[in-house]
Amino acid sequence: MLPEKKQVLVADDEANLRRVLSAILTRDGYEVHAVEDGKEALEFLQNHHLDLVITDLRMPNLDGMALLREVQAMDLQLPVIVLTAHGTVDNAVEALKLGAIDYLTKPFDQTEIRNVVRKALRTRDLSQADAPIEPSALTRSSPGARYGIIGRSPKILEVYSILDRVADSPTTVLITGESGTGKELVARALHENSSRKDKPFIKVNCAAIPKDLMESELFGHERGAFTHAISSKPGRFELADKGTLFLDEVGELTLEMQSKLLRVLQESEFERVGGIKTIRVNVRLVAATNRDLKKEIAQGTFREDLFYRLNVVPIPLPALRERSTDIPLLVDFFLTKFNQRLKKQVTGLSPGALARLVSYSWPGNIRELENVLERAVLFADGSIIQEDNLSQEVRASREVKPASPAIEVGHVDGSSDGLKEKVKAAASRIERELIIRALDQTSGNVTHAARLLKISRKGLQLKMKELGLREREEG
Ligand SMILES: Nc1ncnc2c1ncn2[C@@H]1O[C@H](COP(=O)(O)OP(=O)(O)OP(=O)(O)O)[C@@H](O)[C@H]1O
Ligand SMILES: [Mg+2]
Repeated sequence: MLPEKKQVLVADDEANLRRVLSAILTRDGYEVHAVEDGKEALEFLQNHHLDLVITDLRMPNLDGMALLREVQAMDLQLPVIVLTAHGTVDNAVEALKLGAIDYLTKPFDQTEIRNVVRKALRTRDLSQADAPIEPSALTRSSPGARYGIIGRSPKILEVYSILDRVADSPTTVLITGESGTGKELVARALHENSSRKDKPFIKVNCAAIPKDLMESELFGHERGAFTHAISSKPGRFELADKGTLFLDEVGELTLEMQSKLLRVLQESEFERVGGIKTIRVNVRLVAATNRDLKKEIAQGTFREDLFYRLNVVPIPLPALRERSTDIPLLVDFFLTKFNQRLKKQVTGLSPGALARLVSYSWPGNIRELENVLERAVLFADGSIIQEDNLSQEVRASREVKPASPAIEVGHVDGSSDGLKEKVKAAASRIERELIIRALDQTSGNVTHAARLLKISRKGLQLKMKELGLREREEG
């Protein structure tokens, strides 16, 4: 069982700082472990469950940046906050680029550290970072491979074509879509495929940051700007200079913050909170929301003028149920991923299980599919995922969506016979698709395709016959 209190590791060579941090965080109900250098920190985190690491950058043995690299390499999904000395923003930017969730400039005060810790833990609860995985052959052949996006349905192909056109332009982009449809993935793809890719990609989750901290988060503050501002701090706009600023959940901004953001978009300049110097930055803005901003405008909770400023290029992402033909490809992608991560050897799904996946409505979209498959891979006894390994919701799905013509069968009457028919039809449709794809990829070579599909050559030939697929003529 996991310990009840959130576990925080503090790594700093200054005893005083360790003591102060431990005292503050212990009082806030965290369990704090303190170590003196990076090497000790690494040893500790290899042997204990942790929720957060706070590390100084300059330390003996192993410095904070190296520690951060190690944590990222271990793929622990563990947030790291770095402590930087006053006036070393470059280090902070470097750390954020390496995956640190936030940073604190020394000296800082109690409220500041509390806020940053609270935010980091909350952000972590809201998102799950992802480590690169070795893609399978099928995945590599996905037309969106260059963007790290899986899918070849017409709806997702549209997304690629917008990306092709706008990735390397400074234009502001608004990504919309239901939860879990890949908004963040697309935002990162925009950055990675632009000439800004070596510059920072800075993400602000507008839903995770307390309202009263938002302005200073975005624009920074000068020392003394408010009670707890005991040193000055640049905001995310400054950190993102020459790079990309990703405003996630932009619909959560208050009207007041919306006005401030609008001004930056109009004039490309702003001041830090409590500052008088005007700061100009060169930032490409990408925003995302799962809210219907048009509706919010009608209700008076979102500024229309800001909407038009953000919506220069809209990228609406389709819900998974609108592109269920991508499910087999996504399944392949996630099986590869979880086999690697969980050290399992699951090769596929039973026809019944596949049919369930295709007929389910996926309110949580790809993230939900990902979670369902992770669980299924974990629980699968042999090499094949069975219906039993799927979540309750998915197993309970009975409707076949009219949106996917390929699995429509004669009568939709809900009787068990009708259901069986539908399940069968869905299963063979997926089988057919997987087989066509494998053949595609091996230029029709049945032996190679069979190997790819991990079935025997004979089995494949039989299946092909069953599904009415002809073998390529030799020669
Ligand atoms: N087309 C895709 N191919 C592969 N993985 C995808 C795809 N779309 C989304 N994912 C994965 O699904 C998960 C959810 O994606 P992401 O976080 O980008 O969604 P989101 O729209 O930002 O969701 P939310 O609104 O909940 O923040 C991530 O793990 C992402 O890598
Ligand atoms: Mg998101």
